[in-house]
Amino acid sequence: MENKNIRVAQLSCEYTSNPLGINNLKPLFSWSIHHSERNQKQSAYQIIVASSLENAKKNIGDMWDSKEVNTDQSTVKYQGKLLESKKTYYWIVRVWDKDRNMSPYSEISSFEVGLLYPEDWQGLWIGKPGKGSPLFRKEFKIDKEIKRARVYVSGLGYCEIRLNGEKVGDRVLDPGWTDYDEVVLYSTYDVTSLLRKGSNAVGVMLGNGRFCPPDEVVNKNPYKLKKYHNYPIFILEIYIEFDDDSLVSIISDSNWKTKDGPIIFNDIYDGEIYDARLEEEGWDVALYDDSAWEFAQEVVSPQGKMKSQATFPFIKVDKILPPKELTSPTPGTYIYDFGQNFSGWVRLKVSGPRGTQVKLRYSELLNEDRSLNTNPNQGAEATDIYILKGQGEEIYEPRFTYHGFRYVEVTGFPGIPSLETLEGCFVHSEVKSTGSLFTSCSLVNKIHENIRWGQLSNLMSIPTDCPQRDERMGWLGDAQLVSEETIYNFQMIGFFKKWLVDIKKSQKEDGSVPDLVPPYWDFYPADPAWGTACISIPWDLYLYYGDREILEENYSMMERWVEFLHSQSKDGILELGKYGDWCPPWHIISVETPISLVSTWFYYRDTLLQSKIAKILGNVEDHDRFLKRAEEIKISFNKKFLGDKNFYGWTEDWYRTYLPSNASIGDKEITSKRLHRYLRSQTANILALYSEIVPDDKRKTIWRELIDDIVVVHGNHLNTGIIGTKYILDVLTENGEVDLAFKLVTQATYPSWGYMIREGATTLWERWESLAEEGMNSQNHIMLGTVDAWFYKYLVGIQVDPHFPGWRKIIIKPYPVKDLNFASASLETFRGLISSAWRKDVNSFFLQVSIPANSQAEVQLPKMGWKNIVIEEGGENIWQKGTLVSQKEGIDYAKENEDRIIIQIGSGDYQFKLKEE
Ligand code: BGC
Repeated sequence: MENKNIRVAQLSCEYTSNPLGINNLKPLFSWSIHHSERNQKQSAYQIIVASSLENAKKNIGDMWDSKEVNTDQSTVKYQGKLLESKKTYYWIVRVWDKDRNMSPYSEISSFEVGLLYPEDWQGLWIGKPGKGSPLFRKEFKIDKEIKRARVYVSGLGYCEIRLNGEKVGDRVLDPGWTDYDEVVLYSTYDVTSLLRKGSNAVGVMLGNGRFCPPDEVVNKNPYKLKKYHNYPIFILEIYIEFDDDSLVSIISDSNWKTKDGPIIFNDIYDGEIYDARLEEEGWDVALYDDSAWEFAQEVVSPQGKMKSQATFPFIKVDKILPPKELTSPTPGTYIYDFGQNFSGWVRLKVSGPRGTQVKLRYSELLNEDRSLNTNPNQGAEATDIYILKGQGEEIYEPRFTYHGFRYVEVTGFPGIPSLETLEGCFVHSEVKSTGSLFTSCSLVNKIHENIRWGQLSNLMSIPTDCPQRDERMGWLGDAQLVSEETIYNFQMIGFFKKWLVDIKKSQKEDGSVPDLVPPYWDFYPADPAWGTACISIPWDLYLYYGDREILEENYSMMERWVEFLHSQSKDGILELGKYGDWCPPWHIISVETPISLVSTWFYYRDTLLQSKIAKILGNVEDHDRFLKRAEEIKISFNKKFLGDKNFYGWTEDWYRTYLPSNASIGDKEITSKRLHRYLRSQTANILALYSEIVPDDKRKTIWRELIDDIVVVHGNHLNTGIIGTKYILDVLTENGEVDLAFKLVTQATYPSWGYMIREGATTLWERWESLAEEGMNSQNHIMLGTVDAWFYKYLVGIQVDPHFPGWRKIIIKPYPVKDLNFASASLETFRGLISSAWRKDVNSFFLQVSIPANSQAEVQLPKMGWKNIVIEEGGENIWQKGTLVSQKEGIDYAKENEDRIIIQIGSGDYQFKLKEE
């Protein structure tokens, strides 16, 4: 008998709901369970996969019927008949709870297979030599009723597809960036409703993207940009199934017609020039006379393997932002302030004489006279030009570029523009927002908000460092640092899985990876704090999504990376490195923290992580080998960086010999007083404490040294670069100094996040300093955004239990700091919604928790320094005089330690109140 109180929901295939065009013969299914009772678990599941909707409706699993499988696993790999290219499949699932009650079947979900094999591609790669952005078109007739139709397309660098005058889909800057010598991504669209019986036309517009940047852009870039081709190209197939089951395909080939389009220049950094006078009215609809157009040329296929983007979040216009303010610093120059730094472009509304040129320049900063300050853009022109056709109201937004900006300067506008003239388009990879966080501290909330804006601005099919200057690269360091922050805030698995393939493809024979991926700049080998991404990101994905296969798939990449580090080391020390604790206060390269210390620490950590991963995958030999090696590195680390000192880092002699080679320090005649300061590194001590490599007899001394440096030397400020900043708050919190951690977080004086915000930041800066001159001063970098993970993990206290990854078991361990009255967060996971909110008043501490069915949690309630604690749950006493006094459903057991009362709970909603008796 079906029990209606149990519901299976959130069905996803390859972590995507109803994906179109997957490239996987054994897709992964997952679901979450809603149950009206507390403390519920799945005891069995049944999946049915059908080749038709009819069969799915009748619960007939003609492709796969798993039958009842006894397990609590809610992620399962397909094990049915061979899946076929272009086919749609339908699936349902039902579960049994721990009392053997059976749920109804879920609603029907579907997944569709893309083009699995190279020979499935019937179309040819075609293009049009020349500059600009060419148009391509093809007409075709349909004389039967259409059952379904799909477009499979890849256009490099970027492509926009139009069918019968309409844009297909809502993707922009498509497809995602890859190293086109290795992987080429394609999109699948359902175009059934865009086609019609009779004459049809398909149109394609191409842009340069990263595939064929203009030569002038390649040449002026500070490092040589990789260029794959001289002009953009594409491949396309429109696949149509008719009601009578017959099929037809319209493919790209040299019968297509082509002509230069209205976009006469396009580049991601420099912008776009659009001459509306060159628009071809009706070019993308049927019965257009294209006799004056040339034939397209067939071209050699790119080297990369075709891969579907079906489970990879594509780029979209996420939000439209109205400008906040309009000023005119000089006649004819108009400055729009959007009040927010973001990635994307503006939409322009204009009417005026034909040939009028409206220029839009983008920047993150203004000068004091309110003119545009484009310094942070460095070599990127970040300028769009629209040339009017002169026919009533014209609306323009660029297609094949994007900018990072808060301000836009408009010149050449016919007449006087108003606030309605421009709209901001916030553009980024459309990762689903999964986390939310709110506390009683407005500064914490604002930091969180800035990080979310900054993070999204830096998800542009790869995790970028910044959206504004002539860089925007997939720096491994920046991304690995914030990977937990991104995972708390957004659904990242599809995004990162694709990027891990990019990293894997970039790995060289010797095991090295580059600092940035795809390797559009040739930056091999990576600094160890950057290259660690190839092991720490798979690890984070495993922890938070519980997907063991990610470890398996990437095992050899990680192992080769760890072996590469080993091959570069000498006596357990790794000198290899370029950036170290990058961008600490006052500097770009740290003067306090030796690069080799940071590199050796990552060498240690990666080796240790590799041994842990080997163990999880059952590889005992590797586990032992790497563990032994890690132990040896630890000994070398302590010997070299601690020695007989009371702090980690430089020795005076070593520092003096190092000086001449370190340009950013400059002064060899350094005074002892300054030297004393330089010799003290917060980061060095933090890293050693974080990974518990400090010898027992030195722990107290190192700890005191760190606290003294933070509190006394730096007046309650951090003095860390991007590496130390990631770990400082965790180390302070784990060692009983959460209030100090909170003080650092809520500082409003330099250097701090609060200082950035006080100075007007709406995202995070690259540097702790407020810099507006030339040089490294991006206003929208994400690498200092690691603090947001600390908000979720510690302030609110939602942590994954590493022994039960993927939120099978959740640890709720809030840290009610002195200066906060409440903190709350929720996370949408693949198992369902997790939320936690605490609040305190003078006498009581309240905690409200929701745990999804089929998960459990360990709630660690803080004792608040109180004695004789009583705990109520849902108004009923459950804990008194040091023991559990009631057997409420869902409350398994409780125990206490010095600071906390630890309660084991099952799924459901709980309201705890803790007070002194
Ligand atoms: C980038 C960084 C990157 C760094 C490495 C910078 O130019 O913007 O974020 O990690 O270089 O040196």
